[in-house]
Amino acid sequence: MEKREGTMTAIVTGASGGLGAAFCEELAGMGFSLVLTGRDENKLSELATRLSSSYRVEVNVVAVDLADPGAVRTLVERTEGAGRPVDVLVNNAGFASYGDFLSLPEAALDVQLSVLIRAPTALCRAFALVMRERRLGFILNVSSFTAFVPTPRYAVYAAAKAYLRHFSEALAEELFRDGVVVSCLCPGSMLTPFFERAGHRPDPLITATMMMPREVARRGLRGLFKRKRLIVPGAWNKLGRLGLALLSRRRAVRLAERFSRQYTG
Ligand SMILES: NC(=O)c1ccc[n+]([C@@H]2O[C@H](COP(=O)([O-])OP(=O)(O)OC[C@H]3O[C@@H](n4cnc5c(N)ncnc54)[C@H](OP(=O)(O)O)[C@@H]3O)[C@@H](O)[C@H]2O)c1
Repeated sequence: MEKREGTMTAIVTGASGGLGAAFCEELAGMGFSLVLTGRDENKLSELATRLSSSYRVEVNVVAVDLADPGAVRTLVERTEGAGRPVDVLVNNAGFASYGDFLSLPEAALDVQLSVLIRAPTALCRAFALVMRERRLGFILNVSSFTAFVPTPRYAVYAAAKAYLRHFSEALAEELFRDGVVVSCLCPGSMLTPFFERAGHRPDPLITATMMMPREVARRGLRGLFKRKRLIVPGAWNKLGRLGLALLSRRRAVRLAERFSRQYTG
């Protein structure tokens, strides 16, 4: 990857746990200064203290709720606006509301669309503008394997992740001549609090094959710095993607429906 003079800075959304915390650990290990963001200020501060003392890097915390329309402006003001140029943006924050579409409250849908679509889109715009001026920048958008197949009981989530994948691939083509790299990471299931927070207990067979977030973060960043536009980590996920392409769309959706059943055993 190209570098500019001085320490490079990365901002990671959803840094308070799971895959986001794993990205932070990897980036700190590579010597990046960090800006951690999420809603849980205590968790972010604990992580910041640990990373700054383990890796001797500068770590700042900006707690925001990405469902809040003013959040993106706050993040830009507290980084670029405070003389801290951002070289790497990791759009990682996300969550799912598990359940039949019609059973989910309308307010929950709005929050989901804001966090999964509006916020990462606005963050890409805000930071890509300044990255393009500097002719240097890296953006990693965390989508999901569900971007490849409409998924019952995760209907909004999977469609939002498909949006993020399409958006990222188009943006990558628009920006690569300006020195800005855009990659999209599509992980399969991982061992993080994601499912518990969504209210879904997956089948133990699925849980047994989940990847560790640290491994996914490592592969995601490696792909980003190698300028890969689409990153599908893990052999099973790569195979799964190929398998899905051989099925009719309807069969693929039926298969996804089996994956998304609640385990009641
Ligand atoms: N785990 C999986 O199986 C899986 C598979 C494919 C893709 N993914 C994607 O990977 C990403 C990371 O998920 P994870 O597995 O690490 O889940 P996680 O452990 O639940 O972490 C989600 C992160 O998103 C943040 N977040 C949620 N709502 C937010 C909001 N309104 N404003 C700001 N931050 C918010 C949370 O921070 P706070 O709670 O502090 O706000 C948390 O740090 C997500 O985009 C998810 O869709 C996960």
